[in-house]
Amino acid sequence: MNPFTVAQITDCHLQNDPRQDYRGRDVEQQLDCVVDDLLAQTPAAELILWTGDLVHHGAQKGYHRLNERLAALPLPSYWIPGNHDDADLMRQLGGKLNQRTLVKQGWAIILLDSTSEPDGQGGGCLASLELSFLEQQLQLYKDYHCLIGLHHNPLPVDSEWQDSIMLANAGAFWRILASHQQVKGVIHGHVHQPGDHLYQGVRVLMTPASSVQFKARCRQMTLEDSPVLELPGYRLLQLYPDGRITTSVKRVAC
Ligand SMILES: [Fe+2]
Repeated sequence: MNPFTVAQITDCHLQNDPRQDYRGRDVEQQLDCVVDDLLAQTPAAELILWTGDLVHHGAQKGYHRLNERLAALPLPSYWIPGNHDDADLMRQLGGKLNQRTLVKQGWAIILLDSTSEPDGQGGGCLASLELSFLEQQLQLYKDYHCLIGLHHNPLPVDSEWQDSIMLANAGAFWRILASHQQVKGVIHGHVHQPGDHLYQGVRVLMTPASSVQFKARCRQMTLEDSPVLELPGYRLLQLYPDGRITTSVKRVAC
């Protein structure tokens, strides 16, 4: 049984001015390195999920540059916003990038916008319409295996500053998933660090940023300083017809 391979790239934090760094990192160059590494993988990924904070503070020119990059890729991309994005602008500019449900080989990938009710600190929330969309899609694809993508973490990560800006209504999210056993995995960004947990029988996967990484289990924001863990990263997922997921985080020296 052959799986199909999905890539996740997240938290690119592109600036308006491509020469402008983000926390000391050349995020444009790092994104190029990540994409080049992904394109060199065998077997090749069949699509890329971009899970938010694609630009920093809604930087409009960052979206234009990203759009040009994505249009030149040999595989399709789909994006959702994070707290640093301008969700309205993404909907305007995105076209097919905005597709919310992807169906392939017995799997349905459902992408959610978790940027409702911004608290000004980076926290996120699923609007009631978004929760209804999730419920409706899970009913529609009840005979499929499902992977959910969103920006904000729906579980705490044992870092005080990050747990204060996680998905605010995670309880409502998990209540919906509890009655839909076909959900096999959840992927998210936002935390700028890797992780792989099982919760309510669902694999919850955290993915490092293509920009900067945050050190795990800290009271305050702390940049990662491990020579390996500070490297830009992305995730590959193999989705099998029987519902299994295998996955790995790739780190890219740049
Ligand atoms: Fe981010």
